[in-house]
Amino acid sequence: TGSCTSGICYVNGEQGILRYRGYDIEDLVENCDFVEVAYLLIKGELPNTAERRRYAELLNKESLLHHDMQSFFRSYPFKAHPMSVLAAMSVSLSAFYPEMGDIDPELQVDLAVTRLVSKVRTIIAFIYRHMKGEDFVNPSYKYSYCENFLNMMFKSSVIEYQINPLYVKALNQLLILHADHEQNCSTTAVRLIGSSDANLYASVSAGICALWGPKHGGANQAVIEMLELAHEQKWSAQDIVNKAKQKDSGFLLMGFGHRVYKTYDPRAKIAKRLCQEVLAESGETDPLLELAMELEEVAVNDSYFKERSLYPNVDFYTGLIFRRIGIPTNMFTCMFAMGRLPGWIAHWLEWNKDPYGKIGRPRQVYSGPYVRKVQNLNDR
Ligand code: ACO
Repeated sequence: TGSCTSGICYVNGEQGILRYRGYDIEDLVENCDFVEVAYLLIKGELPNTAERRRYAELLNKESLLHHDMQSFFRSYPFKAHPMSVLAAMSVSLSAFYPEMGDIDPELQVDLAVTRLVSKVRTIIAFIYRHMKGEDFVNPSYKYSYCENFLNMMFKSSVIEYQINPLYVKALNQLLILHADHEQNCSTTAVRLIGSSDANLYASVSAGICALWGPKHGGANQAVIEMLELAHEQKWSAQDIVNKAKQKDSGFLLMGFGHRVYKTYDPRAKIAKRLCQEVLAESGETDPLLELAMELEEVAVNDSYFKERSLYPNVDFYTGLIFRRIGIPTNMFTCMFAMGRLPGWIAHWLEWNKDPYGKIGRPRQVYSGPYVRKVQNLNDR
């Protein structure tokens, strides 16, 4: 049954339709940038020019990270998984930016929302700099949301870094593709935690933890690892498909299958096109893209995959694009989190404003022993 009513995202898994607030994903990807789509999800309507400018200004103003928070990064091992740092840093924002009781609650929510959307981007870039043992690069008012992210990640004092406009476009589109997907595992976690009146930062941190799993947001990392392994081992597309069909192998074709889509994931189609465009720019061929395309061809025509309606999902091609942009594999899920943030926020707000407003409390079917008596320790 439906766990809630929601006016944010429409998914039709049989027909492969995805809409945010009534707009088709294709339309949004072609005609909007990520900031506009974030605004749409959070506020309900696309911004006009003045609203767009004000929102971008607020995002820039809120993009710096408290100086004391910056020292946290140094306490993490270089090899810590970026998602563990991201979850911890996100919940820490509530300590550094607590609610202010003396201002209008609506404004307070606006501030918390823009802080989160802006600072999570800064946090992800700082996680990367820390992993590399490099100094942090602060955001700059001169750049757009995605340009700023690329600059914070890759600017160097010893090698000239030019922001590639194609990567800016790709990043905008990828973030839009990830921005919402109704009641998936992480969004449900955010709504449930939020229903206890936990603050936005704490609720989003729970969403980040949920997203981390390889059956959810961790799949984009798993796809690249699978393709790299297959390339190293010289497995053909058919070898990989054969492995995935063996039930006892414990091997799944990562980036394939979806709980809701029983046809092509519409995001996978867009990601494939974008992937081809980004990889074509350099004029070099990418053996992993070639393998991925061959794999798709073999799998969608295989009776095992056909019978089970298993098609490429959003994660199948996105990792190849992130990889080309220069984002390391273990940070792919952080990129997913950055994109999904507006969706989580929109769902948190929707639940928060719901006049029903009760704490979430799923019921269970009990299957344990009915009643027992404790035996003395020596007799057990
Ligand atoms: N490779 C091989 N077989 C698969 C795959 C796969 N990727 N996915 C599902 N199957 C098989 C199952 O073994 C099962 O077979 P059976 O009927 O013989 O038992 C059948 O297809 C149905 O699978 P379920 O697990 O019931 O499908 P469900 O809808 O529960 O799972 C899921 C969906 C978790 C996405 C699954 O397809 C999977 O693990 N895919 C790989 C991981 C992945 O790409 N995750 C990203 C999802 S998209 C996202 O979160 C953004």
